[in-house]
Formats: sequence, C-alpha cells, structure tokens
Amino acid sequence: MSQLQGEIITADAPSSNLGNYEEAYANFHWEDVEKQFSWYVTGKVNLAYEAIDRHVDAGKGDRPALLFSDSARNETYTFADLQRKSNQFANVLRGQGISKGDRVFVFMPRSPELYVSILGIIKIGAVVGPLFEAFMETAVKDRLEDSGAVALVTTPGLLPRVKRDELPLLKTIFLVGEDIETQEGIVDYNTAMEAASEETEIEWVNREDGLILHYTSGSTGKPKGVYHVHNAMLQHYHTGSVVLDLRENDVYWCTADPGWVTGTSYGIFAPWLHGVTNVVRGGRFSPGDWYETLQRNKVTVWYSAPTAFRMLMGAGEDIVKQYDLSHVRHILSVGEPLNPEVVRWGHKVYGHRIHDTWWMTETGGQLICNYPSMPIKPGSMGKPVPGIEAAIIDDNGKILPPNRMGNLAVRTPWPSMMRLIWNNAPKYEEYFRIPGWYISGDTAYMDEDGYFWFQGRIDDVINSSGERIGPFEVESKLVEHPAVAEAGVIGKPDPTRGEIIKAFISLREGYTPSEELKAEIARFVKEGLSAHAAPREIEFKDKLPKTRSGKIMRRVLKAWELNLPAGDLSTIED
Ligand code: PRX
Repeated sequence: MSQLQGEIITADAPSSNLGNYEEAYANFHWEDVEKQFSWYVTGKVNLAYEAIDRHVDAGKGDRPALLFSDSARNETYTFADLQRKSNQFANVLRGQGISKGDRVFVFMPRSPELYVSILGIIKIGAVVGPLFEAFMETAVKDRLEDSGAVALVTTPGLLPRVKRDELPLLKTIFLVGEDIETQEGIVDYNTAMEAASEETEIEWVNREDGLILHYTSGSTGKPKGVYHVHNAMLQHYHTGSVVLDLRENDVYWCTADPGWVTGTSYGIFAPWLHGVTNVVRGGRFSPGDWYETLQRNKVTVWYSAPTAFRMLMGAGEDIVKQYDLSHVRHILSVGEPLNPEVVRWGHKVYGHRIHDTWWMTETGGQLICNYPSMPIKPGSMGKPVPGIEAAIIDDNGKILPPNRMGNLAVRTPWPSMMRLIWNNAPKYEEYFRIPGWYISGDTAYMDEDGYFWFQGRIDDVINSSGERIGPFEVESKLVEHPAVAEAGVIGKPDPTRGEIIKAFISLREGYTPSEELKAEIARFVKEGLSAHAAPREIEFKDKLPKTRSGKIMRRVLKAWELNLPAGDLSTIED
C-alpha cells in the first residue's frame, strides 16, 4: 500500500470548473445544483426536456448534439433535430397505447435511432430498459420478463433472440430497418416515425418518478433491475461539471454502450444536460479507429475504461504519433481498477493524466473521483465528489481510521442513488443493512490524505496465512511485467495457508509460456510488491473471461479452478 501511496502526479488544470477541491467540497449544497433547473420553481420535471428541448428554447437548437459514425454511417444531429425526432417517437409510443411508468426496452447496436428512442421513451414518462446488443435469448428473456416490459425497440437481426411467445406482456415491437414486414404486434419504426407529428406534449413527472432500469449481475442469482428516477439528473449535471469538467464548446466522447450505465449516465444524460456535442461511435474497438475518432471529431473530453487503455498501451506509442490528438484536454476512466502503470503511460504518451472515477450501476453517477485540479496518486480512485460522504466502515457500521481496509460505504441518500431493485426488495435492503449507509460490496481503504484505494469485491479479497491481500494490487503488479498482457488473480483454497494466490495470465505477443517465465513473473511480484502477494501458482491462458465492460471475471476463474459451474454468464464477452 505505502509503496503506491508515495507517487503523485500534480494537477494539470488548476482552472477547472471545480477549482480548489477542499473549498468546493466544504461549500457544496445540492440546492445550488437544483436551482440550475427551471423545475426548481415550476415543479415540471422531465430529464429529456432538460437534456434536449431546454437548449433549443435557449436558442442553441443549431448546435451539433450527436456526431454518429460507424462503418456505414457518418451523421450529425443538432439539438433541434433530436427534439423533433424524440417528439416523433414519443407520439409513436403513445399511438400504441404506451404511457407513463410502462417499461420500454431498447435492444440494438449503437445508432442514432437508439438515442432518439431512449429520449422519446423518457419524454412520455415511460421507463427505459437498455439491453446490450450481444445478449442472447435467455439474457433477453430474463430481463424483459422480470421487468414486465410492454414494448421493445430492436432490429430484424436481433429479433430472433426475443422469445415473444414466452413474454405475454410484451405487446409491441418496433423494428428499425429496411423493408419491415409488419404483422400483429410488429411496428415498422421508420414508417411510423414519418407519419408522426414533430410536436408533442412532454409528460411532466415527479422527480422521484422512474427513468431507467439497468440490469446488472450480482455475485449470486439472476441479474437485478436497478431502478433510477428523474432526480438522478442532479448528479449527472453536477458531476458533468466537476468531474467531466464540461465546458460550453466541448466535444465529448464516452466510449461506453448505453446497454451499460456508463453509456447512459455519461453517454447521454451528463453531456446533453450540459448541451455539449456528444460523439458516438458504433462498431468494435480498434486502436486505429479510436484514434481516428478522436482526431476527426476534435474530441476534447474522453471517457473510457481501463481495458481499453490497456489495449491502447499494448498497441504502443508509435501509432499515437500518427494522429492529431491535440484537442484532447481531459481523459477519464471507469469500471475497474485503473493500474498505475496505465496512468503513467497515458501521462507520458497523451500528455494528460487519466482520471479514475469510481461508481456503480446502483449509484447512478460518479461518487469518488480524480479531478483536473487535484494531484493524482496513480492507483487511487480519488476523493468523494462534493455533496457525497464516503467512508470505510466495518461490518457494524463503525468508521475505520485511515489505511484500514473495510467496506466502501456512502452516506445515504444522494440524487442518483438507486430507488429500487425491481421485484426484489430483499436484495435492495442488503445494500442498506447498516442504517445511514449504502454498502457498495467493494473493499477499499482511505489514506491519510483522504484518497480512496480500491482493494476488491468483498467476495474476491484473498486471505493467505492471515494476511489480507487485494487482488488488484497483485494484478497491477503483474501487468507491469513486460510479458503480461492481462492478469486475473483469485484465492485458491489451501489446507495450510487458508488460501494461496493463483494468477491466470494472458501473455503479450512474442512471449511463449514456460516454467521459467512463471518463476520469473512470480519473482517480479515478490520483489516488486511483497512476498505474500506473489502468486504461488500461475496458469497461462490465451484469453481471460471478461465482462463486456472489460472486467476480468474472477468468479469464472475461480469456477474453472474449483471445477464448479460458472453461474450467470450473460455479461461475458464471448
Ligand atoms: O467493483 C467496482 C468496479 O465496478 C463495480 C461496479 O460495476 P458496474 O455496476 O458494472 O459499473 C461500472 C461503471 C460504473 C464496482 O463495484 N469499479 C467501478 N469503477 C471502479 C471500479 N473498481 C475500481 N476502480 C474503479 N474506478
């Protein structure tokens, strides 16, 4: 721990929206954020209005809102375009008898129609359910069934994965594509849109009314529907300002798909609440395409994930030099631990620090972050967002002193805190089992300077010979070895030590597995971190099991190791 704590990369933008962190934290009031919105006075709330229509009303309708590209399309939509189109889709939905509170799912690859659909659903006060395009039959059915979805927007290509005969509540499917054959319950999206009026009555809702239902996997059981309300916009707006540091003329790119919470909270809501231009790129990851996207759109603020940054690091420095990335001002990361090695590399190669941010589907928005005006300690998630109180507590709710590992907890409530787990009150209550706190399920410690350091999920922490070991530190060290591309570490039961550390490793191009290499890698960790943190067992794999958001699935590694069923794999990469 102490080894990592010593390193600091000083602030690169002292004149950010946040300014001095300590002062901003001490003087913060949520009411000041609320006053930014007219509903503070009128009581008329709808997030889609605040994200799109408000900017048109303010005379900014001609500003580009969406810059979409994939291998087939390259299109620009202004705020006025999105207003018209989302109005049309709102009318299409109403034409099918869909109304406030209904769950309407979207299941398709990234496209302008996906974003228009989400806005239209919100405009009528219905609840959006985003499904990642790679979900297969069972995953789709579980989510539609659990939520009682009445309608779905999808494409002809994905339709076969929707088991309509087993989903009696699912009345309407909107199909986005060419030459759609309409039949009972199937509506041709394009034709319906053309026929719909470009004006609509926005459904004004209560700030505590439903907005979005994101399904996410727990450590046990089927995915749970995490339910957020319109009030979450306060957190999206606030963090858009102090964490993303969004300014008037920014061009912002969040690489996440709206099937995941990052792709909605920060791929839709935060940038549009701020009226900035939002870049969306469809298709798969490739270093060249990504750098080209940054260059072509003159992206200024870029939000991505450690896996992507690690892959970009793997692609090397030379390719970076082939592109003009001079517009980039601010880089952020989320979703899994951001290895110190990656932060150092990014700083050297992009000339900017990568700012780690911590939050979860359940939290709806960023909670612990690094800010442009604050020194970064590589490997730390940063400090609580102004307005958020975070602490490390023990299982009885006692706040632990600095440098003690425990439950990462957040004082309740905050604007984007989940309000329900759909159909599962007991699961919801588990998170709030200690009065006054949300228990994240992550373990962490806080250092003397108030920086939080992620250690693992509660169920992933390794205990070897009485020493508690956070797998993240071991993995971070492993990926610093030149031969290691990616690493996942688990505790393997051991009769003497309780658990020993076992590492699953995929090697970089040009390295071949051997016993010598295993010994060398283990020695590297032993010498670089500590003896008790060195893996006693190493197994090389061509690929490690990962979620689509890039997290290495240690639970699957553990299941391989113990010859157990791997559980729900609906979020795995392939
Ligand atoms: O374990 C933490 C990890 O991802 C979990 C939340 O995952 P999900 O709901 O899919 O949301 C991901 C995007 C918001 C957390 O419980 N996690 C998220 N961010 C970080 C992280 N782990 C370490 N460092 C982070 N910055």
